[in-house]
Amino acid sequence: MADAALQLAGLVKRFGAHTAVDGVDLAVAPGEFVTLLGPSGCGKTTTLNMIAGFLSPDGGHITLAGRHVEELPPFKRDLGMVFQDYALFPHMSVADNVAFGLKMRGVAAGDIAARVREALALVKLDGLEARRPLQLSGGQRQRVALARALVIRPAMLLLDEPLSNLDLKLREEMRIEISALQRRLRIATIFVTHDQGEALTMSDRIAVMRAGRIEQLGSPAEIYERPATRFVAGFIGSINMVRARATGAADAGGIARLETPAGAAAARFAGSAGDVTLTIRPERLRLGAPPPGAIAWDVVIERVVYLGARLELRLKLADGTPLLAEAPNDGRASWREGQVALAWFTAEDAWVIAEPAA
Ligand SMILES: Nc1ncnc2c1ncn2[C@@H]1O[C@H](COP(=O)(O)OP(=O)(O)OP(=O)(O)O)[C@@H](O)[C@H]1O
Ligand SMILES: [Mg+2]
Repeated sequence: MADAALQLAGLVKRFGAHTAVDGVDLAVAPGEFVTLLGPSGCGKTTTLNMIAGFLSPDGGHITLAGRHVEELPPFKRDLGMVFQDYALFPHMSVADNVAFGLKMRGVAAGDIAARVREALALVKLDGLEARRPLQLSGGQRQRVALARALVIRPAMLLLDEPLSNLDLKLREEMRIEISALQRRLRIATIFVTHDQGEALTMSDRIAVMRAGRIEQLGSPAEIYERPATRFVAGFIGSINMVRARATGAADAGGIARLETPAGAAAARFAGSAGDVTLTIRPERLRLGAPPPGAIAWDVVIERVVYLGARLELRLKLADGTPLLAEAPNDGRASWREGQVALAWFTAEDAWVIAEPAA
């Protein structure tokens, strides 16, 4: 990406014998929202800290708006950062917390008050200037941290799990607010989370990280519907994984023939013949009379879990392979535990991963 807001090339960080970041390549376009998603300890915070300048890489390069920044101290990198634990100054008022970065950068005292007011309005905290962090709710504290990052009018935002300490409802509200703000300001953003829902709803692209590497980089739909590996498939949402053998490469329409313990199947595939994993999302595995051309498997309904808007159906194939199906609770079907049924999907509903099943 020639005009990237940020470019990481072969980024490496070691702590003693442990390689925390192991060759990360990533380009973020101007205005783009990219999420680093992965389990605890996979290197998300370490990656952000290298971009921000709090850690120096053991290898690789960081370019911000075309400029190599490895030698620049954090405050010269023109980045706004929200840390995993907020890191507000407890003894300072909200206004002083937000003003801190401007003072550090030597902004004229006369301009500071106006900039602070503007930043607090942006995150809807007008009127709370004089409070201390301890006199605020978790969501308000989070907004102070965001205002403090935005007030310096950074070229880029780095947000490290900014919503992880909030309860579910507030988290969902803040998700929408941060997305709206990011779009309005058109500011390139790297957002770190291990919440798949946050990643799917907020991101232009998601980088799924594992053990210091990016395992897959793509749009939310690509990551969800065409996971490259079993790890990515299993990390986002629920998924059925069935042992299978591709008997050849895909046809012109991208569909490959498969053999599975339940019988013949067909699915979308981008690889070649061999042992593979057939995946079907629970919402794409349906129960009842299959339409012509669908792949239908005999199953036993082992459990029906009531989720309100949806029903979760735990199924079993004849060879014991468990399957999960999800049906809308539309009042039409009445599935009973112990019932024998047909579970069906189309080749378009299913996706093949070129890794053998575990
Ligand atoms: N200063 C340090 N010294 C030694 N090891 C470290 C240090 N910082 C991080 N690590 C290790 O590097 C790895 C990556 O840590 P990092 O904080 O980047 O993970 P993370 O993906 O942000 O995880 P989480 O989701 O829990 O925040 C971990 O194994 C961690 O223990
Ligand atoms: Mg972290």
